[in-house]
Amino acid sequence: MASLKAYAPYSDFRVGAAILTGRGDVHAGCNVENASYGLAICAERNAVARMVVADKIDRKIRLVAVVSPDAAPCFPCGACRQVLHEFGCEEVVALGASGEHERYPFSEILPHAFGPDDL
Ligand code: THU
Repeated sequence: MASLKAYAPYSDFRVGAAILTGRGDVHAGCNVENASYGLAICAERNAVARMVVADKIDRKIRLVAVVSPDAAPCFPCGACRQVLHEFGCEEVVALGASGEHERYPFSEILPHAFGPDDL
């Protein structure tokens, strides 16, 4: 449902993302664009930001579900994959227009990822 709130006047491409955390909470985000095009923020990263603000402890991402009424399935962009990996995302669910979905282990979405454990 977050995709319906997308602010996407430039691309007209609406995206919603929902994160399921380790403790079972859900945090949703939508894309927010800007007249300075490069400042657009994706739905997935907004959902991550909302998770971080909501809880200082429960920041493990079990899965992220992504939906767009404008393209199905819609997968996280490269930048979002990196940000999702930061919080241990285990799975990506790409939702289709009529409820069908594809599930992928995160290691397939971002193989050989660089993350907190590498530092
Ligand atoms: N976008 C997302 O929000 N998530 C994705 O996974 C792909 C792209 C947004 C960014 C921009 O507002 C619009 O879609 C077109 O790229």
